[in-house]
Amino acid sequence: MIHVARLGFVLILLCFCAIPARSSKSQPSDEAYVTLLYGDEFLLGVRVLGKSIRDTGSTKDMADGWIVELISLLANPNQVRPARFWGVYTKLKIFNMTNYKKVVYLDADTIVVKSIEDLFKCGKFCANLKHSERLNSGVMVVEPSEAVFKDMMTKVTTLPSYTGGDQGFLNSYYDGFASAHVFNPNLPEDVLKSRPVPEMERLSTLYNADVGLYMLANKVLIKRTASSE
Ligand SMILES: *[C@@H]1O[C@H](CO)[C@@H](O)[C@H](O)[C@H]1NC(C)=O
Repeated sequence: MIHVARLGFVLILLCFCAIPARSSKSQPSDEAYVTLLYGDEFLLGVRVLGKSIRDTGSTKDMADGWIVELISLLANPNQVRPARFWGVYTKLKIFNMTNYKKVVYLDADTIVVKSIEDLFKCGKFCANLKHSERLNSGVMVVEPSEAVFKDMMTKVTTLPSYTGGDQGFLNSYYDGFASAHVFNPNLPEDVLKSRPVPEMERLSTLYNADVGLYMLANKVLIKRTASSE
């Protein structure tokens, strides 16, 4: 019965739209910062995250704030999983946000401490390698694609998830992620054009650091206020 009640929770996918500096406000944005809020536990976190993006996004024309989009739950197919992971598969819907060319997804327990606009230069899929050679789904850059999303949906119930959540699924889906090359936002245009866009790239550690590392290095780009998965 608890599960039925939970389906009634509001699932919200929030887009914080960043309009590229060169375009005027009247043009629709094709890049967005996105986070996922299910239930109300992380509402404050999401507001802080939004404020932190605004505070660092000085080179961009910013929209007023989060654009709230109500979306339906993508049920977690795993029987064995932590109870709090009931809604996490919904995160996969960022791959279906095809009205955007590029989406930077940030978990609601992160804050941005420095401009991360470079992330929008990532090709198809970028994430960090953490947890002994596994990708972390707390910070990801995604090029939304109907084909990729549809393919994922055909595998949602069959691919194993070591966490019982979206992160485990994505580690199965992006098999071999540990050997992906590191994303370099400063590659010259001609190099970018002369090579096929990699299916996946790794982000440097500083794009998704824990609070402890932030204190030590004092230069990370995103810090996590709590570790989730
Ligand atoms: C994916 O996006 C399309 C187009 O916006 C929409 O019609 C469809 O319902 C979405 N699929 C899911 C599972 O959310």
